[in-house]
Amino acid sequence: MLAGFTNMTFEFGARAIVEDATWHIQPNERIGLIGYNGTGKSTLLKLLVGEYSASAGTVERGRSTSIGYLHQDLLSFDTNDSILEVALGAFERVRQLEVEIEEVGKELEKTGDEVLLHKYTDMLHELETLGGYNIHHKTEEVLQGLGFANADLQRPYKEFSGGWRMRVLLAKMILQAPDLLLLDEPTNHLDLPSIEWLEKYLTHYQGSVVIISHDKYFLNRMVTKIVELYQRKMHIYNGNYAYYETEKVMRMELAQRAFENQQDYIRQQERFIERFKAKASKAAAAQSAMKRLDKIERLEDVALERPSLRINFQVDKTPGKVLAELKDVGKSFGTNKIIEHSNAEINRGDKIALIGANGKGKSTVLRIIAGVETYTGDRRWGHNVDESFYAQHQLEALNVNNTIIDEMKEAGSQKTELELRTILGCFLFSGDDADKKIKVLSGGEKARVALAKTIISKANFLMLDEPTNHLDMHTVDLLIEALNKYEGTIILVSHDRYFVSKVANKIWAIEDHQIKDFDGGYEEWVDWKERMKKKQDEEAKALAGEQKNQKNNDKKAENNQPKQEAKPAPAAPVAPAPAPVKQEPINKEAKKELQKKQKLFKELEEKITTLTKRKAELEAMLASPDIISDKSKFLTTERDYISINNTIKETSEQYEKVFESIIELESQ
Ligand SMILES: Nc1ncnc2c1ncn2[C@@H]1O[C@H](COP(=O)(O)OP(=O)(O)OP(=O)(O)O)[C@@H](O)[C@H]1O
Ligand SMILES: [Mg+2]
Repeated sequence: MLAGFTNMTFEFGARAIVEDATWHIQPNERIGLIGYNGTGKSTLLKLLVGEYSASAGTVERGRSTSIGYLHQDLLSFDTNDSILEVALGAFERVRQLEVEIEEVGKELEKTGDEVLLHKYTDMLHELETLGGYNIHHKTEEVLQGLGFANADLQRPYKEFSGGWRMRVLLAKMILQAPDLLLLDEPTNHLDLPSIEWLEKYLTHYQGSVVIISHDKYFLNRMVTKIVELYQRKMHIYNGNYAYYETEKVMRMELAQRAFENQQDYIRQQERFIERFKAKASKAAAAQSAMKRLDKIERLEDVALERPSLRINFQVDKTPGKVLAELKDVGKSFGTNKIIEHSNAEINRGDKIALIGANGKGKSTVLRIIAGVETYTGDRRWGHNVDESFYAQHQLEALNVNNTIIDEMKEAGSQKTELELRTILGCFLFSGDDADKKIKVLSGGEKARVALAKTIISKANFLMLDEPTNHLDMHTVDLLIEALNKYEGTIILVSHDRYFVSKVANKIWAIEDHQIKDFDGGYEEWVDWKERMKKKQDEEAKALAGEQKNQKNNDKKAENNQPKQEAKPAPAAPVAPAPAPVKQEPINKEAKKELQKKQKLFKELEEKITTLTKRKAELEAMLASPDIISDKSKFLTTERDYISINNTIKETSEQYEKVFESIIELESQ
């Protein structure tokens, strides 16, 4: 065993985080540690490395186990060294050897001493065993995998933003190759290509890896075991995330059935006791039944416990039709050009997702729009725009010494303390929680504070940079719901494909230093990209064939070049492309289909209403004394109740599907 817990309990003051947990990490395991925000996942890692001590039970670490631990607090590390230097720090012994070898070598040249020669060859040998000739190459490879350009490697570490610094430290850590790698939400700082790279790298990692993550795609591909911290217990699942999902439902169902059976039994016994306790002849039997009932260990109702955050973005006033406009805007960092001569417009009701290769430029464009970044050209703001900006490093911007309620007060709204506390309640900080210091909050809890701050302004224009970072999957779903209900306008940056596909109705892609506007959701955009690529490939192929056959006809060949993006129209340079889809015949058919679906949708809606009414009636019957006292009536009512529940579920699923297809048809 590399490390682990045996019957371990840990508490913060009166609050138990984990009770009686046993978990042993073996060599060559890839484990995903999951759980809702604030359940204590990061705390478990701190217990493993010895930063906290258990309240009861034991925490074990193998005597020779080396542990690498990546976490948020590392952000405070700072240095003037180049990032290459910092990452090379992984090879401490090799670096030391390199220096010594150089010194001894010089000395040797002077003296030719035999003892020194021995020492010299020994050192060269050690260097070789440690793979010392390879370290520069390896380090560069890892840094590049994590998204650094070659030119960046010599730049000082302190010039980089928090997210990029975390990447350097991650590089250093994986180069150190410890037996056990503990990673607390590593993907928060990465863009898609780097996440994919990390996935591949860690899949072949020699040691064991424990990863805290809220990204199910990543977990599905990466891990072979899931450990869930849920209701203060550690639940172990021997499979990836998909396995966990189905297995958990099954476990819950089994537990639910056991609970229901027990409830049936209890109800039956209680009826018996009730009926006979007054009768002298049966009093003894009733007594012993009562004792039996007292003794049984009552199972808990396992209904899935979920943090039900109530996110509700409100709008105070309606803005003009155009919220913001970029005209001939340019931006470069030194020689790194982000955009130039770019035009774009944000209209009322837009829900725009900014997408761009390599994570560069998206946040910059967002910051230009927000007015917190310098640029050339013109940025115009519409009438009546009330904006609120959720910046990428929003969490770092929280004052760690504040309490949550102080932080809310400092956000500059006119709200009273009572109003602020009510809002905090919606964000799951009830009662005393609001007086907690920011310092002790978990990542997800900090994100909730930052979101609460975004909400109090009642802005009609939200600019969100990576809003799902740190949030657990369930909370991400709630955020999606809230953003879909939101009546204002949104522009956002996110590397979470699921989130983008659920929220955005427009895509801005940064390509060739231009902002290209696509009027459609993420999936349509991906489809369209694929179609365009195919078309280009075909055209290129045709062109190649043509060139072969008609070598002289240069002019025609030139006209056939795929140049559809050559002339960017200011508002929607990319938008004309989906036009072929909108051909008349398809449109007519689609319209018919749409009408059919809408009719079905209405019918299903009515059916659900009727079923729900009937369900409520049955519920009332099940609770009525008449039925409870009659076993056969009770059982038939119960059967009806279960069956109606199933029908409701099925109908609702169908309803959702129809709804989705309507949305799809409407957006065509
Ligand atoms: N030093 C502390 N004193 C009191 N409470 C603390 C302290 N540190 C953390 N907590 C609380 O303990 C709980 C667990 O925190 P932890 O950071 O382990 O959660 P987490 O599961 O990692 O959550 P997230 O998914 O949001 O990162 C949180 O409610 C947090 O506010
Ligand atoms: Mg955490």
